[in-house]
Amino acid sequence: MKILALNGSVRKYGNSEVLLKQALMGAEAEGAEVEILNLTDYDIGPCRGCGLCLFKDNVCQVKDNTNEIFAKVDACDGLILGAPCYFLELTAIVKQLIDRCWIRGHNQVGLKRKPASVIVPYATRGWIPYVFMQASILFNVMCLDKINQAAVCTQGISEVVLDQDALDLADRMGRELAVAVRNQDFTYRGEKGICPSCHDNLLRVLKDRETIECPTCGMRGKLNLADGKIEVQFDEKSWEDFRFKLNVAYNHFAYHIAPSKDYFLRTKDERKIKSQKYREYLAK
Ligand SMILES: Cc1cc2nc3c(=O)[nH]c(=O)nc-3n(C[C@H](O)[C@H](O)[C@H](O)COP(=O)(O)O)c2cc1C
Repeated sequence: MKILALNGSVRKYGNSEVLLKQALMGAEAEGAEVEILNLTDYDIGPCRGCGLCLFKDNVCQVKDNTNEIFAKVDACDGLILGAPCYFLELTAIVKQLIDRCWIRGHNQVGLKRKPASVIVPYATRGWIPYVFMQASILFNVMCLDKINQAAVCTQGISEVVLDQDALDLADRMGRELAVAVRNQDFTYRGEKGICPSCHDNLLRVLKDRETIECPTCGMRGKLNLADGKIEVQFDEKSWEDFRFKLNVAYNHFAYHIAPSKDYFLRTKDERKIKSQKYREYLAK
């Protein structure tokens, strides 16, 4: 059993690294083989949006190290992501990796599902609204089932070594990941959130001012107040329309992306003529 840790912090011996290493120690104690990758050691270029990965040989045309990361993810049995909160979200390298998963998000049929957890060091209470959203997106497009998510308040480089509760939490998360792999039980064990799918508490009010949506998963329902507490009653149908479900991802490809290729090819000459002035304008 192999547990892989992905570190999204550029800081050497930073809090993410410490927490991930503690989690790996926990996983090792449960019999796992472990490995840690610093994402910033890899050249992860931006997705070029060329679409060739979806239409030509299922291969990304960008020549960098991202495929090495994908190979490591494919070879592991469970994964833990550690990344600090930077300006309310995870670090940019995580988003860069998400964008490069376009090909994977549409090609999940046959991929083995695996458990994953995320741990996020942050410094300012209340300044972490989008961190779990990004982890959920990354896990969904990598075919990983989130079994836990946690944020730890800590600031300076490796300061988290002074917080025994945080280290114990990381250790437990590593152990439970190994146990989840061993038992092939990927149920969510973290703190429950309002969204029954990603367990985040982010909510979006739709234009009708009646419907509430989990912005990450696309689950929709109606808001309720029960004993003064906010609840959302999600429609049963929401589970069918869950944004990252295999058939929804397939339909997105089959009915949205694939037909766009025909349109693109059909309009080639017209585009060429009409885009000429934009190519010439401010051209160097
Ligand atoms: C550019 C930058 C932006 C940050 N933005 C936030 C933020 O929005 N919310 C927060 O709670 N902490 C923020 N922090 C603090 C880090 O999340 C915190 O120091 C964390 O422990 C760093 O983890 P690391 O040592 O693994 O890099 C920011 C730090 C930096 C350098």
